[in-house]
Amino acid sequence: MKTVLSGIRPTGNLHLGNYYGAMINFLKMQEENKCFFFIADWHSLTTHPDPKHLHTNVKNVLAEYLACGLDPEKATLYIQSDVPEIAELYLLLGMQAYIGELEKTVSFKEKARQNPDNVNAGLFTYPVLMAADILIHNADYVPVGKDQEQHLEMTRNYAKRFNHRYGVEYFKQPTAYNFGQELIKIPGLDGSGKMGKSEGNCVYLIDDPKAIEKKVKGALTDNGPEGTNTPKPDYIENLFSILKVVSTPEVVAYYDNLWNIGETKWYGNLKKQLAEDIIQVTTPIRERIEDIKNDAAYLRKVTKEGTEKARASADKTLREVREIMGFRAF
Ligand code: TRP
Repeated sequence: MKTVLSGIRPTGNLHLGNYYGAMINFLKMQEENKCFFFIADWHSLTTHPDPKHLHTNVKNVLAEYLACGLDPEKATLYIQSDVPEIAELYLLLGMQAYIGELEKTVSFKEKARQNPDNVNAGLFTYPVLMAADILIHNADYVPVGKDQEQHLEMTRNYAKRFNHRYGVEYFKQPTAYNFGQELIKIPGLDGSGKMGKSEGNCVYLIDDPKAIEKKVKGALTDNGPEGTNTPKPDYIENLFSILKVVSTPEVVAYYDNLWNIGETKWYGNLKKQLAEDIIQVTTPIRERIEDIKNDAAYLRKVTKEGTEKARASADKTLREVREIMGFRAF
């Protein structure tokens, strides 16, 4: 059995792209692997969120994860700041992290350029904290996007250096888990290739039917096909891509045919259908999110049990690491 670990910064709500891109695969992974899913609230501090927002955001992600079907009985679901062992490992791994390397990290350079007045040490050592997140459970696989692969590479370097320095084969080399064929990409509603919260082209899981209808209605289209069997422009292809995920093959074939025979004036119907089918998918999830958010006792129980499981695993690692490094009791 492999250990899988995934972290998410609590900075916004989950959208349809997150759901089909990652969540669907997490649901499968939790059946077959030892999974750790955690909320990286310490990582979100680099941008100094205000305390009220921080708490609300953590609660939102937690409720959304649970509503999507992450099962606290199968996976370990926890909040990073509930596991102080991670902070200790972060301190220890910091000794394997060279300033020169940290300075060259793409994400660091980008953030430093965007916010030159807030280049704090936490931002600088972000990859070290991420390495601690991963190595604290000695994870085999980390499902991450392209933008995080460099961080994972650094994690492997710290693990390797640690092993080398102490002459042990203790830390594994965690690898990026690529969903490959199984990865469903949800494009944006604005013609862009990807649904993403920074692009403002998202349908969120918490959007109510009215909001979804409005967003889908506003999706970029044109005057219709110019001829028969013409290639679809990207923004039209995108609508079909989403339709393929949420609708039946018959529905897709129906609209595909309208395109191919060069009909016009059916985009309104297509959008209505698309909105309806998205609503079908998101409504039960949205309702569960609401229920869970209002169930303080359940949230308390889930986080308490998640913390216990995560800390037991983290504590075991730290004891071994301390022993290896020469921190020993008298
Ligand atoms: N850096 C990740 C992101 O911004 C979040 C994260 C923090 C993470 N720690 C992690 C992801 C450990 C995977 C493993 O998306």
